[in-house]
Amino acid sequence: MSTAISPTAYNYKVVRQFAIMTVVWGILGMGLGVFIASQLVWPELNFGLPWTTFGRLRPLHTNLVIFAFGGCALFATSYYVVQRTCQTRLISDSLAAFTFWGWQAVIVGAIVTLPLGYTTTKEYAELEWPLAILLAIVWVTYGLVFFGTITKRKTKHIYVGNWFYGAFIVVTAMLHIVNHASLPVSFFKSYSAYAGATDAMIQWWYGHNAVGFFLTTGFLGMMYYFVPKQAERPIYSYRLSIVHFWALITLYIWAGPHHLHYTALPDWAQSLGMAMSIILLAPSWGGMINGMMTLSGAWHKLRTDPILRFLVVSLAFYGMSTFEGPMMAIKTVNSLSHYTDWTIGHVHAGALGWVAMISIGAIYHMIPKLFGRTQMHSIGLINTHFWLATIGTVLYIASMWVNGITQGLMWRAINDDGTLTYSFVEALQASHPGFIVRALGGAFFASGMLFMAYNVWRTVRASNPAEAKAAEQIAVVGAH
Ligand code: HEM
Ligand code: HEM
Repeated sequence: MSTAISPTAYNYKVVRQFAIMTVVWGILGMGLGVFIASQLVWPELNFGLPWTTFGRLRPLHTNLVIFAFGGCALFATSYYVVQRTCQTRLISDSLAAFTFWGWQAVIVGAIVTLPLGYTTTKEYAELEWPLAILLAIVWVTYGLVFFGTITKRKTKHIYVGNWFYGAFIVVTAMLHIVNHASLPVSFFKSYSAYAGATDAMIQWWYGHNAVGFFLTTGFLGMMYYFVPKQAERPIYSYRLSIVHFWALITLYIWAGPHHLHYTALPDWAQSLGMAMSIILLAPSWGGMINGMMTLSGAWHKLRTDPILRFLVVSLAFYGMSTFEGPMMAIKTVNSLSHYTDWTIGHVHAGALGWVAMISIGAIYHMIPKLFGRTQMHSIGLINTHFWLATIGTVLYIASMWVNGITQGLMWRAINDDGTLTYSFVEALQASHPGFIVRALGGAFFASGMLFMAYNVWRTVRASNPAEAKAAEQIAVVGAH
């Protein structure tokens, strides 16, 4: 395998910027998660001010963790993966820089406007129309950079990781633009172009596919590159990865109605959403198995490599949450789980266990390579981070299962005379211990991010500009 150095180099600047901001936004978004979790334990933390209430900070938490932390991780890794697997530089440095600064501007816009109470009220699509338009422009530019780079690739075929990233970019643009169609009445207020049950259906078609394409397909792109790289093994089955891709994108798009069970949505649409969600188990587990089996013959590496542990445990949580989701989509199960903390537990099994863990593993893999170092400053600290993250996730989801089932059962308990057995406040009081455990689990997870920041900072500080420059060189033939 030749290692000749080509005269051209990768654009790592934008990858470094997004990678560093993933850590920064991760700390802020998860720190805010711990704060709002604490508000549910100690309501005094709302401070009696409108902009510090749970209701305004909760959407800021979701925007920061999904779009700022998760989004930066997806930008960083997709730009890294597309360049390395296509053995070419990004098609345009200035457009790539625009996506970085534009994305940060949208996030800062969210930090300012959401606590002030400016919101469309649609979950995960709260940003008002000026920011939504900026986001759309940045996203289309992202598509141009990504697909433009693929068109000038030096390799013959397009590695499967790029298929997943590509689908995530195209579908996210479609969802965002369709769901945000609205009529502005002032600079800070707009009304949805849709009404009633149609509005609800469009919103949850968006909402579920935000999960399916932003929080799943994009991160599967990450999985298909970083798991084989870190395990130093080829992907278990390339054929399975192609079947996985087509099955996943064909099925996900139909599952949205499971968010609207027992609502004004026509019954047939609810049943369709339920059926499609159950079928989704198959491609989800196909992908999980493909990732896990890549470790065949390399399982011993888990003993010494905490980065690989992050990646593998993330796949285990992916498998778990994609088993739980289809079960919750069954109408009779949903009648118990809906509105309860069970949903919150499911969300964070996916968000902390899958999305955050795979991102953290990928960032630890990339940082030394981006800065011309052989490895992270401290492997011991990665190990500490791994245990804090794993214990934190388990505490979070276990407490929410207990709370969710308790709440669901207490709400539906009925006396012989038809009156409710428990008042709402009694169910809330029963949830209090679970809220404490969740806040503790969150604090574990978020403190792990502080170890990560320190470790990243020490690794970056140890690198000199010449080393970083040398790392950008494209090896003409060789592993990606
Ligand atoms: C330290 C870690 C975290 C803590 C302590 C935390 C805490 C919370 C809390 C307290 C809520 C509100 C729950 C409620 O309304 O009852 C929430 C909602 C949410 N969080 Fe987190 N979170 C964390 C990390 C994350 C991450 C990394 C993501 C995504 C990648 C995420 C995504 C969400 C989403 C999507 C919701 C809304 C759930 C729904 O509406 O059903 N969180 N989080
Ligand atoms: C086969 C895969 C999955 C299926 C079928 C599924 C199904 C479901 C169902 C039935 C709900 C509850 C809806 C309700 O009662 O309102 C839900 C909520 C949710 N799921 Fe999943 N899930 C899957 C995977 C995932 C993954 C991997 C993640 C995260 C990375 C995730 C994130 C969420 C979020 C954020 C919500 C809360 C939405 C909201 O009400 O705000 N799901 N999911």
